Amino acid sequence: AIDPQFHENREQVDEHEGHVVWGPVDEPEELGIHGTHVAVDFDLCIADGACLEDCPVDVFEWVDTPGHPESEEKADPAKEAQCIDCMLCVDVCPVDAIDVDAG
Ligand code: SF4
Ligand code: F3S
Ligand code: ZN
Repeated sequence: AIDPQFHENREQVDEHEGHVVWGPVDEPEELGIHGTHVAVDFDLCIADGACLEDCPVDVFEWVDTPGHPESEEKADPAKEAQCIDCMLCVDVCPVDAIDVDAG
């Protein structure tokens, strides 16, 4: 499962579409965590898609990640600022790849 203390245990190494990327990153096999309020561990995501289907405010968008061992697309928290902390995505992800900091 995603480390809920990722913001203490990892470093900010990049930005993507306005959100932080938390390393380590070594493309294409190691992609890190995208987002902060809504954080998705790209190295755990298997592209199940439940988060995209269930999020009531469409926070997630697919991004292509060719060559990643788990899946060749990932749920990117592209609109994390719109999150209303419903926690649905956290509950439905089969691999616990998502952390939402509801405060
Ligand atoms: Fe969407 Fe709810 Fe997840 Fe926020 S907590 S990203 S609103 S499903
Ligand atoms: Fe990935 Fe979990 Fe969503 S596997 S696509 S983060 S439901
Ligand atoms: Zn991203």
